[in-house]
Amino acid sequence: MSDQANQGDLEIRPSPLLKVINDLHSKYKSLKEGIVANYIPELAKVNPDLFSISIVTVDGQVYQVGDYQQLFTIQSISKVFAYGLALEDHGRDYVLTRVGVEPTGEAFNAIILDEQSKRPYNPMVNAGAIATTSLIKGAGATERLNRVLEMFRRYIGHDVFVDISVFTSERSTGHRNRAMAHLMLNFGMIDRNIEEALDLYFQQCAVMVNCHDLAVMAATLANRGVNPITGEQAVNSRYIKDILSVMYTCGMYNFAGEWAYKVGIPAKSGVCGGIMAVVPNLMGIAVFSPPLDIRGNSVRGVKVCEELSQQLGLHLF
Ligand code: DON
Repeated sequence: MSDQANQGDLEIRPSPLLKVINDLHSKYKSLKEGIVANYIPELAKVNPDLFSISIVTVDGQVYQVGDYQQLFTIQSISKVFAYGLALEDHGRDYVLTRVGVEPTGEAFNAIILDEQSKRPYNPMVNAGAIATTSLIKGAGATERLNRVLEMFRRYIGHDVFVDISVFTSERSTGHRNRAMAHLMLNFGMIDRNIEEALDLYFQQCAVMVNCHDLAVMAATLANRGVNPITGEQAVNSRYIKDILSVMYTCGMYNFAGEWAYKVGIPAKSGVCGGIMAVVPNLMGIAVFSPPLDIRGNSVRGVKVCEELSQQLGLHLF
């Protein structure tokens, strides 16, 4: 065999999956739509051009492109994981008495409770997430925070930290969330000190992750709760169906129906500009791009997921 033939044999070709995400990254890189979240003052400082796509498969393969090491705060995507911890702490029946599983068709920050039960509608909107977080067990505020951080560590595979500036920024401006907490206190849906519950909620939202971490977390949910990189069980597998069901019906807020129709996989967005999507038994997908549409979902993130779903045939039905 000639040297040339040998070199040809050794040529490293990008995998088809890497090519798909590279192409999508190039296609949407210069798109200038949407605006970065500014109702939390610290979030307004983010560079709108940051853009990354990561995929982690349930057998631990990793494909990624762009700024996938860039840290950002997880924001609403944290709600998915806090829900899992509340389910582990109390079981399905009790959690259902405090937070429903019904989509609202309203914005993520709508101040509404179910008329009859007085429960917040679901754990993915702010009201439901604050109620969910107030259920997390622990002897005091520090133990509860440590349990939340330890939970994220299991999903991600390394220690995580809270961005103190983003936490304080939201804590000192988050009066809408505070109003929801008071409303739920009034109806007995939160029974602890609401400032402590809000602090823990703002802290979980300010946990720093990158796009790669988010894809590992999504892959862990796709893999029945077992982190595919570390092999650690991050959440009891019996709650995976609860978590993925509410992600599917409520994770994208007032876009959840269109998302389910077009993309067809459970997902969760955050005002950080992240979207995490789960293809059960196959892969976790994460996109990070800060400019948001009017519903608070990443513009590039939605487009990338729509096209990925079509090209890879990911729709569940
Ligand atoms: O509570 C809030 O408003 C933020 N910490 C999280 C909101 C969020 O990420 C909504 N997602 N699109």
